[in-house]
Amino acid sequence: MGTFHIVVLPGDGVGEEVIAEAVRALRAVERRGGHTFEMTHALIGQRAIAQEGAAISDATMAASAASDGILFGAVGGGGVGSPEDPKQPEHGLYRLRRELELFANVRPIKTWPSLAGASALRREVLRGVDLVVIRELTGGIYYGRPSEIREAPGGASAIDTLTYTEAEIERVVRYAFELARSRRKLLTSVDKANVLATSRLWRRVAGRVAVDYPDVTLSHLFVDACSMELIRKPSQFDVIVTENMFGDILTDEASMLAGSLGMLPSASLGTKRRRYGQLGLYEPIHGTATALQGQNVANPIASILSAALLLRYSLGLKREAGAVERAVRRALAAGYRTPDIAGAKEQACSTSEMGEAVARFLAE
Ligand code: IPM
Ligand code: MG
Repeated sequence: MGTFHIVVLPGDGVGEEVIAEAVRALRAVERRGGHTFEMTHALIGQRAIAQEGAAISDATMAASAASDGILFGAVGGGGVGSPEDPKQPEHGLYRLRRELELFANVRPIKTWPSLAGASALRREVLRGVDLVVIRELTGGIYYGRPSEIREAPGGASAIDTLTYTEAEIERVVRYAFELARSRRKLLTSVDKANVLATSRLWRRVAGRVAVDYPDVTLSHLFVDACSMELIRKPSQFDVIVTENMFGDILTDEASMLAGSLGMLPSASLGTKRRRYGQLGLYEPIHGTATALQGQNVANPIASILSAALLLRYSLGLKREAGAVERAVRRALAAGYRTPDIAGAKEQACSTSEMGEAVARFLAE
């Protein structure tokens, strides 16, 4: 029996609509008995800028830091600006990741047999796909300084800085080895060691950590080759570990294996322990999808599955997490399809109908 504090940050675009369905699933878990979730809703992104003067307020930062887990929707306004700037919606996410030290971004990618038809790839290619990408999230070119445009009479120039310390590499690689050990024991470390010094250090550290995991097979792959292999034969991968920007790009690519971006949850985990787990931020990887906003058509499954990851990793409620995942499977098996995963001959349902179906299966 426990009471848990969850900070809910729906954010921009379809964030509000999809997170509402994740909250509905958490309420359904609560009604099954045993646990109470105290949820505090707060602003992040564009509305936070308009109403509170910054993409995330200090009060929301403090509440997030003190919570058991954070459920996050999406931020963004389609503009381009530095995420260091508090008036950029992305700043909210940027600050949460860095200040809460959420260094390991876990993005599991599985194909759902009932959705094989929804992918752009052939059914045979998708058979047996079950991989997890661990993306380093608080270092690399996202946070390296200097990062600026330099105006000059002869023409502007720009600089970004890609930097990693051994310690930053080691903690995320270790996390990936631990995960691989609990799975099929294959770890692929992805880098660009034929060009980048940070990648050569990455490879060296990965090789050193591997000594502690003789039961896990480590291989190295260049990022360009990895992007090709992910489409050619995705079932060969178990756990992939890579630096921040490579991970950003590879996970969008890998998401297409699941048929739709709308299916994929993620967890960002760090060093801060909680009573039964670790502090984490949980978000659908699809982003704001503003073209769908306000129409009740976005797929809430990525958010609902993110809530399941929150139950598992931050609250230590493994049984409840499994129940949410089973309820999603049953909703899909019963034929519920938001437009992004509906085949040509299938009737599409709305965001809330999908969420209601999952909650109903959770209540059984
Ligand atoms: C992601 C997003 C973010 C990133 C953006 C919104 C800054 O693409 O979470 O993958 O690049 O990390
Ligand atoms: Mg991304």
